[in-house]
Amino acid sequence: MEETGGRHIVALCVLKGGYKFFAHLLDYIKALNRNSDRSIPMTVDFIRLKSYCSDRSTGALKVIGGDDLSTLTGKTVMIAEDIIDAGKTTQTLLSLVKRLNPKMVKVAGLLVKSTPRSVGYRPDFDGFEIPDKFVVGYALDYNEYFRDLNHVCVISETGKPKYKA
Ligand code: IMP
Repeated sequence: MEETGGRHIVALCVLKGGYKFFAHLLDYIKALNRNSDRSIPMTVDFIRLKSYCSDRSTGALKVIGGDDLSTLTGKTVMIAEDIIDAGKTTQTLLSLVKRLNPKMVKVAGLLVKSTPRSVGYRPDFDGFEIPDKFVVGYALDYNEYFRDLNHVCVISETGKPKYKA
C-alpha cells in the first residue's frame, strides 16, 4: 500500500495456482483498507498460464485464457503468483505486462524456491522461501490434483506415479 502511493491497484491473479493466495491477499488488503484513513481502490483481473507437465517445466509458457490485458495500460498492477521456481514464468509474464505500459508493476509471490535452476529473479514481495522440492496444495497442483488441499506439502515419490499425466 505504501509503495503504490495510494493509487488505484489492479490486482492480477495468475491462474490456476494463484487463486487461493490471491483471495487471501485481497482479504488482507481489504482489512488494511478498512483500518486506515485512506483506502486504496482495487479492481481484479485474471490471466491463465501453463508451463508445467507433472513436476517438470515444459520450457514454453502458454497464456491460455484470462482477461484482455490491454486494460492494464497506465495502471498500477500487482501480480499475485503462487510460486517462483526458476523464475522464467514470472519474468516472461512481466515482459508481457510491461509491453502494455502500465504505470507500475509489482509482483507478490507466495513461495520462492531455493534452486540452482534460478535465473536470479526475486519478486518484489515474497512470502516463504522453500527448499527445492515439488509442492502441492493451496491451489498448487500436480497434474491438476491437490489444488483443493488447504495446506502446502511436498508430494511423495510414491504419490507421483499414482497421479501421473
Ligand atoms: P518457473 O518458471 O520455473 O518459476 O515456474 C513457475 C511455475 O511453475 C509456477 O507458476 C507453477 O505453475 C509451476 N511450479 C513450479 N514449481 C512448482 C511446485 O513445486 N508445485 C506446483 N507448481 C510448481
